[in-house]
Amino acid sequence: MTNNVTLTRFIIEQQCELPEASGTFTLLLNNIVTACKQIAQKVSRGQLIGVLGSADSENVQGEVQKKLDIITNDIMVNALNWTGHLAGMASEEIDDFIPIPPQYKKGKYLVLFDPLDGSSNIDINLAVGTIFSVLRCREAVEPELEDFLRKGSEQVCAGFVIYGPSTMLVLTTGHGVNGFTLDQDIGEFILTHPNMRIPEETQEFAINMSNQRFWESPVQRYIEECLQGKEGERGKDFNMRWVASFVADVYRILTRGGVFLYPLDNRDPSKPAKLRLMYEANPMAFIIEQAGGLCSTGRERILDIKPDGVHQRVPVVLGSKNEVERIVDYHLSEAGES
Ligand code: AHG
Ligand code: MN
Ligand code: MN
Repeated sequence: MTNNVTLTRFIIEQQCELPEASGTFTLLLNNIVTACKQIAQKVSRGQLIGVLGSADSENVQGEVQKKLDIITNDIMVNALNWTGHLAGMASEEIDDFIPIPPQYKKGKYLVLFDPLDGSSNIDINLAVGTIFSVLRCREAVEPELEDFLRKGSEQVCAGFVIYGPSTMLVLTTGHGVNGFTLDQDIGEFILTHPNMRIPEETQEFAINMSNQRFWESPVQRYIEECLQGKEGERGKDFNMRWVASFVADVYRILTRGGVFLYPLDNRDPSKPAKLRLMYEANPMAFIIEQAGGLCSTGRERILDIKPDGVHQRVPVVLGSKNEVERIVDYHLSEAGES
């Protein structure tokens, strides 16, 4: 136990070490975290308050929205738009970026979020989460789309909250990764997992095997070798996990290593990839790299991608350094580039 360091104390102590840090970022982070506590309360009460099931509507992704997709989106927007710290927001659930209403002061940050990640799991009571990414914005201007389309390497902060057996916050501001557990009795996140690091080696992969026939050959090769186990090329057995909640698969990898793949597949040529760059891949890539792991499309570092849209999708390979490097090598050697 880390003698009960609250998130508030942790952020203020970090702020004191960063001479350029102003209090506004600390306040913004507290607003984001307050929204996540409200979401945790809704998620944990579930059908007691009638929030499960579908909303009979579709989002910009053409996906049927769960009631909680909409509820959590509204909680995030209403917890942040009045604070005076934001120039704008973007959400998985909203087509265009979200401007700050004219009656509120604007600030210098942008927050992009997936308000409920893994929502296909909410009705079967498996872990879901909220993922957020913070960028700086030009000041005293109405933000334009281009202000949001920044490379992941420009993020000032990234985090996620996983609503599981414990409600946990995982956060990076570019100075390592720290995990906090929500103490429901006092409503505070407490530092329980300081300086999280991902083992460079692993024997555990995460992929949705039902898409195998649609993968490119480098991914086919890598997974086939894992499945051959110690009699095959790798000389060791592998285990498999697939939660279908990005936050849960990433949290597992942060705690015990592993490699996660949601690769390109040719099921639907209009949607060759599944995960969204701006509010899923980029924040998780920042966290994974800060914890000593790697995050790639298979061909390029996720954090180096210049976005061309708020809802752009990318293939994702992330986790233990040595496995991600092997998978990237399979992609590049197939293209004759390694
Ligand atoms: P979301 O619920 O925000 O749409 O995200 C779901 C994502 C991600 O959390 C998960 O890794 C992936 O979709 C699971 O995809 P499959 O259902 O195709 O396995
Ligand atoms: Mn998601
Ligand atoms: Mn979502």
